[in-house]
Amino acid sequence: MKHAECLALSDYTIDRAADILRAGGLVAFPTETVYGLGGDACNGDAVAAIFAAKGRPAFNPLISHVATVDAAFELGIETAAARALADAFWPGPMTLILHRQPDCPIARLTSAGLDRIALRVPAHKGACQLLRHFGGPVAAPSANPSGRISPSRAAHVMAGLGNAIDLVIDDGPCSSGVESTVINASDASATILRPGGVTRTSIAGCLAAAGLQLANTDDTVTTPDAPVSPGQLASHYAPAAQLVMNVTTATKGMELIGFGPTGGHGQLDLTLSAAGDDVEAAANLFDMLHAADAAGAKVIGVAPVPDTGLGEAINDRLRRAAAPRT
Ligand code: TXA
Ligand code: MG
Repeated sequence: MKHAECLALSDYTIDRAADILRAGGLVAFPTETVYGLGGDACNGDAVAAIFAAKGRPAFNPLISHVATVDAAFELGIETAAARALADAFWPGPMTLILHRQPDCPIARLTSAGLDRIALRVPAHKGACQLLRHFGGPVAAPSANPSGRISPSRAAHVMAGLGNAIDLVIDDGPCSSGVESTVINASDASATILRPGGVTRTSIAGCLAAAGLQLANTDDTVTTPDAPVSPGQLASHYAPAAQLVMNVTTATKGMELIGFGPTGGHGQLDLTLSAAGDDVEAAANLFDMLHAADAAGAKVIGVAPVPDTGLGEAINDRLRRAAAPRT
């Protein structure tokens, strides 16, 4: 078991934190909303470790934090709404959902296999220093164990996650404590998916000034901290292939993705984790589903994955992908 160091914000602390991120470790850092539990967004293993540390029963998509607006639009495709909102509210407590750029290096697990990614440019001095120093996107959910309240102080993070992460950067209490406003700005009309630090009135005003509109139709499926319903998430990621769980013997034409004692079988011969490791399997899950889909598999089988550790989240995601489509 780890025991996190808790260091006050300083140049030394930022250096150490960036090194830990580069090595695939986890660092909790302050933002103006809440403390985030950060890992390298491009490293699937690091992102899997975030889910493991939080004990999330499902892979909710994570926000990738970057230092500048330009860096955000190198990862996600700019739209008119996104540009107007970014110019008005970044850096700050706002997250934009955008389509990934074709060469976007963010791990599929970071966006829970969805085609769209969540990006935020935070305003907090410590967060900015860390992001600039690290130089790449940092995936970070709020730094609390799943289902518990969000942390607004380093002590909350130490109490909840001190045994699961490497370093906590302490810069006192967060000024807001309310998470960022999450806005889907990937298409012509923008939609608020989670209310947060930037108000609906300011967002609507900014869009109107740019001759754009805020569509409110998604509000019925949002709640303050679990904005996108499981059903809605499932419909975002639907592999073209039919998905069958708990397969131990491949049928003809099936691309079987192995795990542990059940080896992969088919054109690609994929295995989530030959060693039966849940964290490795989580890091590979969405990449392998995408790869099998891209190879034109009609049926994707997945070997049984035990419900222990991240296995619960893996099976939750597989059940949704296997569910009948409407
Ligand atoms: O203020 C904040 O937003 C904090 C700080 C650390 O940045 N982070 C935070 O992360 O609250 P988290 O994981 O607790 O919430 C992220 C929200 C979730 O509601 C998730 O559903 C949504 O963003 N989200 C992320 N990626 C998404 C995507 N691709 N599509 C739709 N929603 C997404
Ligand atoms: Mg949260």
